[in-house]
Amino acid sequence: MSAVGIVAAAGSGSRLGADRPKALVELAGRPLVAWAVDTLLAGGVGEVVVVVPAAERETVAAVLPGSVRLVDGGATRTASVRAGLAAAGAAADAVLVHDAARPLTPPDVVARVLDALAAGALAVVPVLPVVDTTVAVDAAGTVATALDRAALRRVQTPQGFSRRVLDAAYDDLPVGEELTDDAAVVRALGIPVTTVAGDERAAKVTVPHDLHLAELQVRR
Ligand code: CTP
Ligand code: MG
Repeated sequence: MSAVGIVAAAGSGSRLGADRPKALVELAGRPLVAWAVDTLLAGGVGEVVVVVPAAERETVAAVLPGSVRLVDGGATRTASVRAGLAAAGAAADAVLVHDAARPLTPPDVVARVLDALAAGALAVVPVLPVVDTTVAVDAAGTVATALDRAALRRVQTPQGFSRRVLDAAYDDLPVGEELTDDAAVVRALGIPVTTVAGDERAAKVTVPHDLHLAELQVRR
């Protein structure tokens, strides 16, 4: 099975609030996007497409291996992944979609996703259990109900798909409809999404505290 990786790196990183787009923010001296590309290649992905902010093409190209293809992103993550998928070579029979914002994802997670696809899954997401009591609140912020934590999972990336299935799912999704991840796009087609074990180190860098934690991890 051959796999192409798409790295969504075209966001602005408004919650991180850095002086540059999040994918170019450095962790231990290397931009987050470079860490994410390394993870996919080390985990067994053969070809990588990185979706970048149009204004940052040159800057991103300078920090990535020459074999990586770059494509301009869109205004939303859904639009960016759609652009990445259109630019991905037709040869691969699997696609992994990964966030540039998850720099310390261990290659083992990539390998688990690829293994599940090789075993026949059409869609695979890495997940972690929910460890805190989790509740739903009403508009006033009052607890309305406690959720059954045992049935809940936190979903990470890379998410893996049969190429045919992900292409069909994006073709079917009306342009302008935004979903928070790619498994949701596929589920809209009624395709079952398999889970494999995620990893706490695949945590997403969203706010400054997350970057601080990532720095502590690489320093050890
Ligand atoms: N992303 C993208 N194109 C967009 C928006 C997001 O490729 N138009 C990517 C980001 O670069 C990131 C991943 O999707 O790697 C997850 O999104 P998120 O963590 O929300 O990143 P940002 O949108 O950049 O951050 P924020 O929402 O705080 O602005
Ligand atoms: Mg965002």
